[in-house]
Amino acid sequence: MIDHNALLPLLRNVKDPMTGRDIIESKMVHDLKVKGNNVHFTLKLLNPDAPYKSNLIFDCMGQIKSKFPDAEVDIHVEASRTNADVQSPLPHVKNFIAVASGKGGVGKSTAAVNLAVALKQQGFNVGIIDADLYGPSLPTMLGLQGERPQIKDMYGVQTMIPLDYKGIPVMSLGFVIQPEQAVVLRGPKLSGILKQFISQCHWPELDYMVIDLPPGTGDIHLTLVQTLPLTGAVMVTTPQQVAVVDAVKAANMFLIDNIKVPVLGIIENMAWFTPEELPDNKYFLFGKGGGEKLSQLVKAPVIGQVPIMMSVREGGDSGEPVAWDTESKAGKIWKNLAIELDKAVQQRNANLDPTNIVKITTY
Ligand SMILES: Nc1ncnc2c1ncn2[C@@H]1O[C@H](COP(=O)(O)OP(=O)(O)OP(=O)(O)O)[C@@H](O)[C@H]1O
Ligand SMILES: [Mg+2]
Repeated sequence: MIDHNALLPLLRNVKDPMTGRDIIESKMVHDLKVKGNNVHFTLKLLNPDAPYKSNLIFDCMGQIKSKFPDAEVDIHVEASRTNADVQSPLPHVKNFIAVASGKGGVGKSTAAVNLAVALKQQGFNVGIIDADLYGPSLPTMLGLQGERPQIKDMYGVQTMIPLDYKGIPVMSLGFVIQPEQAVVLRGPKLSGILKQFISQCHWPELDYMVIDLPPGTGDIHLTLVQTLPLTGAVMVTTPQQVAVVDAVKAANMFLIDNIKVPVLGIIENMAWFTPEELPDNKYFLFGKGGGEKLSQLVKAPVIGQVPIMMSVREGGDSGEPVAWDTESKAGKIWKNLAIELDKAVQQRNANLDPTNIVKITTY
């Protein structure tokens, strides 16, 4: 007589090669029935024609037979994707936050890294994807230059293990190719790599996946909205008017009708400068009001302003983002930003449907 409950730990040893997570946790096993020595269940696969299908079935059988050698195992394979529009390739990641801007150099990567760290400091499980495939700066910002992700072979599928940055799993193109190679890679190839970062990587369960984007709009942005149900975007701008004009264009890409990714909030970076010896003075080096202006134009709140601070720049260069120290002057700013972002996400999730993955037909 086979015990139903004894089967679950056995099946937990079988991993989905696309995600590295076990098939029970990934809710791939359905209708598990045991009758005498007969075990039957349905295995739901995103792609039931996947080349690793038979290996996966053999592994399930092997696991069951290791404990119950007389078991008659019958596994039925079905496609799990009934509604391809909403199903996420990473269902165990709750929120995907894209950090975007119109202009380059306004502090997206700085914001992505410090937000991720600050969210982590708030107790969330956080991961980072560096999708700025032309000039990946995350390896430097996290002190992971020259590191390589491990590749694991699962049933013939090569899957990558994200690098670990103090408990934050991270993937960056900077880990897989040399910077000088990146500039000659064409859009489709880069998009392919980004897709691999998403669906052929062992991401653990996460509350937040922060995605650092290149400036403006382009292939990478399009790939992202076609691959993931983005929870929302955070727009980074400086107070300058030119930055705002470009930021509106970038935000509009997320907001257009068949993409519909909400802008969760705006970060006004490099908002002013206060010299240490004159703590009451604010010098508005990049002008004033850009965050507020963008807020009105895209109808999203300014969730925080970050002044120009030496420590922010140094933290980026040294692999020690300021947000780790929640009591420092700069650390407190990122902490508040993370709290505001989390609030905006909760509100968004309570009021809006999950974002659909965009289907784009090319004629
Ligand atoms: N608030 C700040 N105070 C001081 N330096 C900052 C601040 N924000 C960003 N920087 C510095 O400005 C530079 C550009 O920032 P960052 O790389 O984050 O911008 P980006 O928008 O990601 O750029 P790109 O468009 O090239 O990806 C970095 O050297 C960073 O350390
Ligand atoms: Mg960047």
